Amino acid sequence: MTHATTGATVVVSRVGKRYSRRRGSANVTLRNVNLEIASGEFVSLVGASGCGKTTLIRMIAGLAPYSAGSITVDGTVVRGVPKRLGFVFQDAALMPWRTLRDNVVMGLNETGADLDRRTVQAKVAEKLALVGLTEYADYYPRQLSGGMKQRAGLARALVSEPDLLLMDEPFGALDAFTRLRLQEELAAIVAGSNTTTVFVTHDVDEAVFLSDRIVVLTPSPGTVKEIVPVDLPKPRLRRQGLLDNRRAAELRDHVLRLVIEDNVPSRPLAKT
Ligand SMILES: Nc1ncnc2c1ncn2[C@@H]1O[C@H](COP(=O)(O)OP(=O)(O)OP(=O)(O)O)[C@@H](O)[C@H]1O
Ligand SMILES: [Mg+2]
Repeated sequence: MTHATTGATVVVSRVGKRYSRRRGSANVTLRNVNLEIASGEFVSLVGASGCGKTTLIRMIAGLAPYSAGSITVDGTVVRGVPKRLGFVFQDAALMPWRTLRDNVVMGLNETGADLDRRTVQAKVAEKLALVGLTEYADYYPRQLSGGMKQRAGLARALVSEPDLLLMDEPFGALDAFTRLRLQEELAAIVAGSNTTTVFVTHDVDEAVFLSDRIVVLTPSPGTVKEIVPVDLPKPRLRRQGLLDNRRAAELRDHVLRLVIEDNVPSRPLAKT
């Protein structure tokens, strides 16, 4: 990856979010969320289903309004989608009627208006190569596997060389092996760039492997429960390297315990 980016700083300050319900009542989804993300940092958000991870990442992306507090990217309050933002969705969200190449070109629409055709093609080719899809540039999404579609989604997010990369469970729908490979590819990509990354996942091992810090959210209302620094050496390029690592296992257990504590069923599941 080329190094045109200076990773964005993100400051989430006392942010709250309510979704209004019928009859005037409101559902408080997030309350008093505080989080400061440094330039170039990789931060994962974990927490129970429904705790507000997607809501929070969409608010940072300027795709959803917040009800209280403020979110700034590089010191500017987020109003609308910030420039130099890459977003990867859980389901890749490719345009089915466009080839892979043209899907990746769309990632340049925000920032690439003044680029000539040849520059656009070069940038797109570089990112398709980065995610290993050069040979598939002329294919349509329906001709690709799930893992290939996620790679294409990643290429589309990276093509503008974003200062801020937001990823909402990008590997959630993939089989374990493809997932491992894409985790390693992502680790290599971020190791070679200064992009700031916010990554939502339910997979705690994935979070430990990729992150500088893991933010654990509580459910209803969602707020920051604990921020766990991942004090393992970097770069971490191979998942295997963590298999026998005691510290990695400790971190995983600690984060899992924090998440599970909030998911204790109100009644025992079975009598013993
Ligand atoms: N558009 C909406 N209108 C009303 N309520 C919403 C809306 N979007 C989300 N919610 C509610 O906000 C809460 C948080 O949802 P969100 O999708 O952010 O959770 P999540 O942590 O991403 O969950 P998951 O891990 O299942 O993806 C949920 O209770 C959900 O019902
Ligand atoms: Mg979600």
